[in-house]
Amino acid sequence: MGRFAMPDRPVILTGFMGSGKSSVGRLLADRLSCRFIDLDAEIVKSSGVSINELFARDGEPVFRLLESAQLERILSTTERCVVATGGGAVIAPQNREKMRKLGVTVNLMVTLEQVLQRLQGCDDRPLLAGEKAAERAAALMEEREQFYADADIRIDTDGKSVEDVAAVILSHLKGLLA
Ligand code: S3P
Repeated sequence: MGRFAMPDRPVILTGFMGSGKSSVGRLLADRLSCRFIDLDAEIVKSSGVSINELFARDGEPVFRLLESAQLERILSTTERCVVATGGGAVIAPQNREKMRKLGVTVNLMVTLEQVLQRLQGCDDRPLLAGEKAAERAAALMEEREQFYADADIRIDTDGKSVEDVAAVILSHLKGLLA
């Protein structure tokens, strides 16, 4: 893959936990020669505690407020960048509105089977901690599908490597810019 022109808006990756947003985002930013921003990492930086601690200490509603605030901050800068959002960033209507208005949204589609396989042994996803994780993941995926579907570009990541997914996104972005 060579170098590509960067769209004049942030490229925002959405998708369920384990869909590969951070790995793909990092590679995509490298190919586009721009900054990569991980929304969860920004939340951790600003709060000074891990995502797990934040959920345990303050609960999901506080996490969602911080998530929206960080997303708004990131999207209010004019810097060209690739942003990997957390899987639940699409829940808040104001987040969806901002992403749609200020960025190019790219949804990474992933199957429940892949999610469960990829996140096996991971202990940093508070929403999937403990009993009945598979049932909870399935319910969350279903609830969020309508929001993930509302992206400028949707990529099927099934059977694709991080490199493959980044290459498909780049070809779509080229199409958008043409
Ligand atoms: C969440 C996804 C996580 C993180 C938090 C909540 C969600 O990010 O923001 O645990 O609601 O789907 P990843 O999608 O990067 O795992």
